[in-house]
Amino acid sequence: MKNIAVLASGEGSNAEAIVRYFAGSGAARVAIVLSNREKAGVHSRMAALGVRTETVPRELWNDGSAVVDILMREAVDFVVLAGFLCRVEAPIIEAFSGRIVNIHPSLLPKFGGAGMWGHHVHEAVIASGEKESGITVHYVTKEIDGGEIIFQAKCPVEPVDTPETLANRVHALEHAHYPTVIENLLK
Ligand code: GRF
Repeated sequence: MKNIAVLASGEGSNAEAIVRYFAGSGAARVAIVLSNREKAGVHSRMAALGVRTETVPRELWNDGSAVVDILMREAVDFVVLAGFLCRVEAPIIEAFSGRIVNIHPSLLPKFGGAGMWGHHVHEAVIASGEKESGITVHYVTKEIDGGEIIFQAKCPVEPVDTPETLANRVHALEHAHYPTVIENLLK
C-alpha cells in the first residue's frame, strides 16, 4: 500500500476526487493532507471523508526540512500538490525527486508561472481570446510550473465563458484525470 500526501491550500475538490478514487483500491491511499492555511476548506472536506489533515505554518514551508520530517514520519511515498499556493522549497523537492507532482489549470507552458493561479489563469485565458484551455500535470521542480509535463487534457473555451464557467469546466477535467494520472505514476 503506497501512501500519498496531498498538499492543498483551498477547497480541496481535487483532494476529494483523489481520496474517493483510491478508497478501497488496496494499492494506495491518501495518508495525510497538509495545508498552509488553517481555514482552508480542504480540512472539513477531509474530515467528512475520514482523512487526517495538518496545518503546517508558513515558516516551516519556507525552510522545507521540517515538512520532509513530517512526510517521512507519515511514511509518504508520493506527494501530490492540488491547489497548493506556497512555494515548495528545495529540501522537499530533493527528498521526493520524481515523486512530487502538481496540477495546473491551463495548458502549460501557456498561462503558468508566478501569479498564475486560480481565477487569474482563467481570466488571462479568456482575455487572450484562446479557443481552448485545459489541465497540465507536471513534476514539481524549483521553477514554478516549469517541471517536465506528464499529462495534458483539453477543453473548449466558449465565447460566452466567464472565468467561473471556464473554471468549472477545467475542474471537472481535473477530477476526471488527476487520480488516474497519479495511479499510473505509482505503478
Ligand atoms: C485547481 O484548479 C488546480 O488546478 C489549481 O488550484 C485549483 C484547486 O482546486 N492549482 P481545489 O482546491 O482542488 O478545489
